[in-house]
Amino acid sequence: MSNIGPYDERVKNFSWTIAEKELGYKPGDVINIGWYCTDRICEQGKGSKVALHWEGHTGVEKTYTYNDIRLASNTIGAFLRGLGVKDGERVCLFMDKIPELYLGFLGILKIGAIAQPLFSAFGDESLFVRLSNAETSAVITQKKHAPKVRKILEKLPHIRHIIIVDHDGVAPLKDREVAFSLQKSVPVEHLDIHPTKAESASVLHYTSGTTGMPKGVQHVHYSLISQYLTAKWALDLREDDIYWCTADPGWVTGTSYGIIAPFAIGVTQCVLDAGFSAEAWYKWIEKRRVTMWYSAPTAIRSLMKAGDEIVKKFDLSSLRHLASVGEPLNSEAVVWSQKVFGMPFYDTYWQTETGSIVIGNYPGMEVRPGSMGKPFPGITGTVLDPVKSEPYAAHGRIGLVALKFDWPSRMRTYWNNEEAFQKKFRNGWYITGDRSKIDKDGYFWFAGRDDDIINTAGHLVSPFEVESALLEHPAVAESAVVSKPDPINLEVVKAFVTLKPGFTASKDLDLEIMNFIRKKLSPLAMPQEIEFVPSLPKTRSGKIMRRILHAKEWGEEIGDTSTLEND
Ligand code: WTA
Repeated sequence: MSNIGPYDERVKNFSWTIAEKELGYKPGDVINIGWYCTDRICEQGKGSKVALHWEGHTGVEKTYTYNDIRLASNTIGAFLRGLGVKDGERVCLFMDKIPELYLGFLGILKIGAIAQPLFSAFGDESLFVRLSNAETSAVITQKKHAPKVRKILEKLPHIRHIIIVDHDGVAPLKDREVAFSLQKSVPVEHLDIHPTKAESASVLHYTSGTTGMPKGVQHVHYSLISQYLTAKWALDLREDDIYWCTADPGWVTGTSYGIIAPFAIGVTQCVLDAGFSAEAWYKWIEKRRVTMWYSAPTAIRSLMKAGDEIVKKFDLSSLRHLASVGEPLNSEAVVWSQKVFGMPFYDTYWQTETGSIVIGNYPGMEVRPGSMGKPFPGITGTVLDPVKSEPYAAHGRIGLVALKFDWPSRMRTYWNNEEAFQKKFRNGWYITGDRSKIDKDGYFWFAGRDDDIINTAGHLVSPFEVESALLEHPAVAESAVVSKPDPINLEVVKAFVTLKPGFTASKDLDLEIMNFIRKKLSPLAMPQEIEFVPSLPKTRSGKIMRRILHAKEWGEEIGDTSTLEND
């Protein structure tokens, strides 16, 4: 029997108090995610249970019990407090998937500060816009990533501390830097947990917008309620599971379902900090006897590409349940998974802004390959007629995915940008920015995004951010950035560029510009192709029409071009 049981029954009798009761929380109580993920599990007598099995890219392994993660998060929390970090201040985690990232996240929350995880492959420009917008006070990082922080430090007066977790004790520390070693610190047995309440800010994740700079999605400690229950019901996570979430905590999946929910349930998590290879992944499942696996379509497509034969080399019989998120999960992938693993990947749909799964396929419910499933119990979801901003009267038509914004883990605002937050609503509905249809049985079928954001390998890239960075290259006069189809990553970034006088298109320039973006922004934002063009399509008012270039890349109808400059 699945955790969720019969879906329709759950929908009928639903209340979030189910999760509140299981977690022993009553409205008005103190609620601190860091405490729930560590101390509470220890208080239940499970302190010696393994919380985390970690393996690095060199093969080094580390194992932490729940008592270990309680002590380590206390120790990091106490260290930050000792530096003068106060509740409500933003502390950035800028690290590979090393244990300190997970433990630091919990330590930050324990002292009531706000955790701001950023993907460690971000270049200095990506880092700068997010740290300056959040007015971050401290950055926890590794020595290999510290140079990127140093490069922009002068422009970041709010940063008081850069905490280096693997300093060798020899190299001189630079401006505002301080060394911290978890191994060498005396474990802090008792830490006063900051008495955060339901609405106290907890996590700040930056997400890309179509226009303007990335926005800080602000979550609160009460998010735990939906993260916990969705992990139990949608992912079917149970206390005795050996769980592997492949996402990096730089993104929301890696925190909501890679730290918060699994530790609050008390499962054993496995983290593999190594690049992708089908062999390494299967080996990891075999070695750790993984039972529940949460991954993403790009990874599944890459595994499909590696073939069926390789699957047979490993004993994957421990697997019990599989789920996916981040991009449309094509029906071929679901069918393939059933064939090779003996079970489908269950698609789940959500966003940084929603904080937890809002639409999904649930164990026990019929899976319709290619569909995202149905709204989680307690969530009201619909598709709106884009013109009237009202739900369609009949099913089967593509419209805007919209939600009643009323579940515990919804974002509370965009950091320092309430205006952008308010713009996400129409007629009382929260507009996700995605398009979908609903079939007669209530299943949602994803039909694409409703904006220009590029979803490459499950990561959202803003064309605006790439175009702004391109303009900083001396050869670039103008640019337009769109997605182009890719068999594995679904979409990749493509840039159309016009050059300044005196520059000529060449393979070298092409590579130079690509590298420039990779270093400034990130490998994901780097255009996989640059096309040098004499001019870009524009409206009469001079606005670049990405739509035309996008349609060309995807072999679609170009549509109305009546406002084009040159027609
Ligand atoms: C897309 C990731 C199709 C969608 C948790 C959404 C999906 C954006 C699915 C959020 C899915 C996520 N099928 N598309 N199952 N899940 N998306 O904020 O466009 O990084 O709006 O959160 O990813 O991406 P984000």
